[in-house]
Amino acid sequence: MWLPLERPTYSALTSDIDVDLAVVGGGWVGLHVAYLAQRDGAQVAVVEAAEIASGTTGYSTAKLTSQHGFIYDALETRHTVEVAEQYATANVAGIDLVTGLVDELGISCDLTRAPAWAYTLEPTRRDEVASEADAARRLGLPAHLDETIDLPFEIAAAVRFDGQYHLDPVRYLNELAEAFVSAGGTIYEHSRATSVDELRDQSVNISVERISDRGLGHSSVRANQAVVTTLLPLGSLGGYFAKTRPIGAYGIAVRLRNAAPAGMTIQIEPPNWSTRPWLAAGPTGMIVVGNGHQVGKTDDAAYRSDELAAWTHNTFEVETIEHRWFAHDYSTPDLLPYVGYSPTSTAILVATGFRKWGLSNGAAAALMLTDHLAGRENSWAAPFNAGRIGDAKAVGKLVTGGFHVGKEFIAGRLGNDHPTCTHLGCPLHWNAPDSTWDCYCHGSRFDSTGAVLTGPAVNSLKLDTDK
Ligand SMILES: Cc1cc2nc3c(=O)[nH]c(=O)nc-3n(C[C@H](O)[C@H](O)[C@H](O)COP(=O)(O)OP(=O)(O)OC[C@H]3O[C@@H](n4cnc5c(N)ncnc54)[C@H](O)[C@@H]3O)c2cc1C
Ligand code: FES
Repeated sequence: MWLPLERPTYSALTSDIDVDLAVVGGGWVGLHVAYLAQRDGAQVAVVEAAEIASGTTGYSTAKLTSQHGFIYDALETRHTVEVAEQYATANVAGIDLVTGLVDELGISCDLTRAPAWAYTLEPTRRDEVASEADAARRLGLPAHLDETIDLPFEIAAAVRFDGQYHLDPVRYLNELAEAFVSAGGTIYEHSRATSVDELRDQSVNISVERISDRGLGHSSVRANQAVVTTLLPLGSLGGYFAKTRPIGAYGIAVRLRNAAPAGMTIQIEPPNWSTRPWLAAGPTGMIVVGNGHQVGKTDDAAYRSDELAAWTHNTFEVETIEHRWFAHDYSTPDLLPYVGYSPTSTAILVATGFRKWGLSNGAAAALMLTDHLAGRENSWAAPFNAGRIGDAKAVGKLVTGGFHVGKEFIAGRLGNDHPTCTHLGCPLHWNAPDSTWDCYCHGSRFDSTGAVLTGPAVNSLKLDTDK
């Protein structure tokens, strides 16, 4: 949705290379890690399957906020006050990193300060709203209870966070990438990693397939360390496909007849309508997102996207709908992202599971990862530990998730004629509005010719006939 403006393009990897640090995936997290590590003195190469910032970041609502729906009360209850504090501190640090880089590098990305509201329409949830506001305030966050918000209808109650931000994430990343390259880093686009392996000497070998105007080709990257920031680690790396769920949402970018509300809002109950200004379209531009579901549940995709448009038409005076999209992120069983060393690895690090709040969390992840790489202490990284198994509740969720995938896998073997996913063989579902084949198991998506759009799959489908 965030249209790339004029920007440098980066060539594909055409020969074997050797670097200190390889970053696999040139999205929000990857480019932050690359920039910070290069600044720390490492020789860094980014290997990107498509184009930088073209993954989920390019379809994000892009609120840069420590308000993540309702989370702080749940973190205190589910984990401890200390964990909630570490999460809050990490996300404030992530926001400070981004706003600091905008200043320092002079990045032009419509970064704008605005309040963020998380609201409920249900009077029975007022106590919950008060508890969230209390928990957030205790942690030092700028939270207030409200009974009205910046939208033209009545609500039951809301938590408002002052001094939050929204921005254009693609313009931001394009300029961050240029700063990274100016500092001596290298970016390879159209270069898909197909495997990431730690070798006996604890260096890392990354096999890369390039798709360029010179055709298909294979090269490898040898690195002392690698950070895998591909939204979900590719293939079976670290087993994260089994520990997360791919949750998507629909989005539209509209022009209204009047000025768009200046604040950011999100409804805490489904369909979780989320709004923010869209400054690139002028004062009447607005982005609306919501009505999410697990990737691969495609039977009512067109209906859900239309419901989003209908809510927007019923709530505002809409002049035109300029863009529509569906995108996904991954949730974890215990509300916390996985950031750090992949299990049993001493040279491969990962960051995943941002629950659709990956801008502040993702920038925080980049700080944690570069602290790990440089051997620096980080006082809030512990709960994000990427090797954790989690508490009993998390394990229970993993088991339920495993059942669901098992059922889906067996359904695929019992004679439907859908193509099967090249990740682990689940049946794929045709997503007519997007013309994609989507996997319900772990969220891989393929275009109508069978090319991989999003992993964890790394190999194309072999389709008998094009859809
Ligand atoms: C609808 C929606 C709305 C959201 N709104 C918000 C919001 O308002 N605020 C917020 O904080 N968060 C939001 N998020 C979440 C946020 O956008 C994501 O968490 C964040 O963008 C993830 O960044 P990433 O770098 O991990 O992934 P990506 O941006 O997806 O980057 C991963 C990159 O890796 C590349 N890649 C994949 N596989 C390979 C491979 N094998 N080899 C090489 N490269 C590969 C991809 O092409 C891609 O460029 C939203 C998410 C969704 C889905
Ligand atoms: S994404 Fe894992 S089987 Fe399809």
